[in-house]
Amino acid sequence: MPFLSAEHCCDDRPAGTVGFVAREPVATPVSPKPAGRTKILFVDDEPAMVRVLKMGMRPMAAEWDVQFAEGGEAGLELVKKENFDVIVTDMRMAGINGAQLLNHVLRRNPETVRIILSGYADLSEVVSCVGLTHQFLTKPCSLDDLKSCLRKVAGIKEKLGHAKLRELTGGLACLPGIPELYLEITEALQSPLTSSDRIAEIASQDPALSAKILQIANSAFFGFSRKVFSVSEAVQLLGIGVIQSLAMAVPLFTAFDRKRCPGFHIDQTWEHSAEVAAIARRLYNEHLDDSHRAEQAFAAGIMHDIGKLILAEKLPEQYEAIIAESKATGTELHKIERKHLGATHAEVGAYLLALWGLPVPLIEAIAAHHAPRRCGVGTLCLAGVIHIADALQHTQGLHPELTPNPVDAEYLKLTGLDAHYETWRRNLNEHTDDSI
Ligand SMILES: [Fe+2]
Ligand SMILES: [Fe+2]
Repeated sequence: MPFLSAEHCCDDRPAGTVGFVAREPVATPVSPKPAGRTKILFVDDEPAMVRVLKMGMRPMAAEWDVQFAEGGEAGLELVKKENFDVIVTDMRMAGINGAQLLNHVLRRNPETVRIILSGYADLSEVVSCVGLTHQFLTKPCSLDDLKSCLRKVAGIKEKLGHAKLRELTGGLACLPGIPELYLEITEALQSPLTSSDRIAEIASQDPALSAKILQIANSAFFGFSRKVFSVSEAVQLLGIGVIQSLAMAVPLFTAFDRKRCPGFHIDQTWEHSAEVAAIARRLYNEHLDDSHRAEQAFAAGIMHDIGKLILAEKLPEQYEAIIAESKATGTELHKIERKHLGATHAEVGAYLLALWGLPVPLIEAIAAHHAPRRCGVGTLCLAGVIHIADALQHTQGLHPELTPNPVDAEYLKLTGLDAHYETWRRNLNEHTDDSI
């Protein structure tokens, strides 16, 4: 399950805590920070559970405005009347169930963070909610874990909701919607019967996506020993997660009007993004021995610079001048963006993904890909992997129009990866002789 199987949203649980296992993060939209407290709605048809939640949430009254609904119908009534920042719902309920309720919320207010709280027995039903849900939490859980998860969600909203970014994105009329192709694939994946052939069939309907899939499958970065001629073969080799990520990114790249901002090099940005995605995936698969997170790393890599496309599209003249200044001074682009716009492409991209309701780790990784220390240095996080993959890709000097981003040496030292980085850099430069 592409985006649903990577990291834990509440990894900061104290050791030994019994209870809520924050499984499979899935997403988190971010909207401009609402005035006042975060509004949270809990929906559960078990009165005893509602009582427990009410008691547990009482100490949070200063921070959160929490409401409760007993059952799907009551929940639906409330969401029809007002918008909530977060909704936490049981899955299996008589009458209107969690999936139906979230479907309604998604249509009415897509920016609401949607969380399903389910028992292990409901897992097969939960799988059918992919795309509807931002986080899955598993019962039983401790209230502390639930609170920590909700705080994390609110924290992302806070982090991305700074005034300059709100001002900037508020001025970026009509941010792109989540691509149809991505939705179609995500919807197909909601059925456990969907095969990779079906995914290939959907992808094949779009010539641009098919072309990119074949290009990537045949690139040196993936290193398949034979030539790949068909989309269905490529889907088998690359995996559904990679195809889903491409279905998200490719429509944005192909829709870009290259005449709008001639100083912005869309083709080199595409190649750079695809290579960063492939490198990040490889780092997880081969060096970090974590194939579980490899698919999410690919998604983060392919989308990490998507904010550049938005800025080039929406503020073409200003962005052209920013790119020119970055090149003329040899200063990293994100620093010049910060100087003139008050926010960076990393934040703009993360903001877009948050609006689309994509997984929290993905949003964090994109937001922090130039500043991985923001995500902590205890363990190597997704942001760190994207940061390293970004820097590694730049060391190859394949895209002269893009100002390179050096690796954060302090971060490497703190994570104990300095020696590894050198090996990765050497291997990459030795074995990759052509670009995507
Ligand atoms: Fe970047
Ligand atoms: Fe980059």
